[in-house]
Amino acid sequence: ADTALLKGRRILVTSGPTHEPIDPVRYIANRSSGKQGHAIAAAARAAGAEVILVSGPAEAADPRGVKVIHVETAQEMMAAVEESLPVDAAVFAAAVADWRVADAAGQKIKKGDGGAPPLTLVENPDILAAIARHRTLRPRLVVGFAAETQDVVAHARDKRLRKGCDWIVANDVSPETGIMGGDANTVHLVTAAGVEDWPSASKAEVARHLVARMAADLAGETR
Ligand code: C5P
Repeated sequence: ADTALLKGRRILVTSGPTHEPIDPVRYIANRSSGKQGHAIAAAARAAGAEVILVSGPAEAADPRGVKVIHVETAQEMMAAVEESLPVDAAVFAAAVADWRVADAAGQKIKKGDGGAPPLTLVENPDILAAIARHRTLRPRLVVGFAAETQDVVAHARDKRLRKGCDWIVANDVSPETGIMGGDANTVHLVTAAGVEDWPSASKAEVARHLVARMAADLAGETR
């Protein structure tokens, strides 16, 4: 790896799922291994950056040389991200739960005569959108992810505008692709300039490619 690419840069990455408690033993979550986000953090480190990885409960191991902040919930992830600013670039690869349970129970909910307990959900903060629209500490380059099962690129273009980020890395996570939880990924990079279809590659290769593009962007070469 070229250890000079991101030397002197501070890069933030979110990765993994969030867990939103129902009670002390149950939670709701999105599927996410954390493999792609952790690979990006590792690649940014290998490129010489100072890296902060804010990770939900992921399968992937903590990358070496990276400052890892472990969180459970979306609200904790939001707080950890805000505390990590300012950074030069931020990549939001986490699969954040869109909703949390309104009043998580303090004790395990018992099966009983009441039948199934109703769950009231409330919306979680959108971390990517909040940071992309941050008034004072918006990173120079904000990268979001879009995991879709259909019309991947169309949704990603739309998401890029809606969230206010610079780039969206879009991937098709239909079960038949094997991408979710797997080691390979096929992505499209959506920027203001258009869409690039990247060849299928390992998540580590996708991470290195993205990091190289980020370094070029931060150096003022492309966008
Ligand atoms: O809206 P959707 O969840 O599809 O957007 C995905 C992108 O937004 C990802 O980059 C994800 O990390 C980020 N996101 C976030 N906070 C949320 C929901 C999504 O940062 N609450």
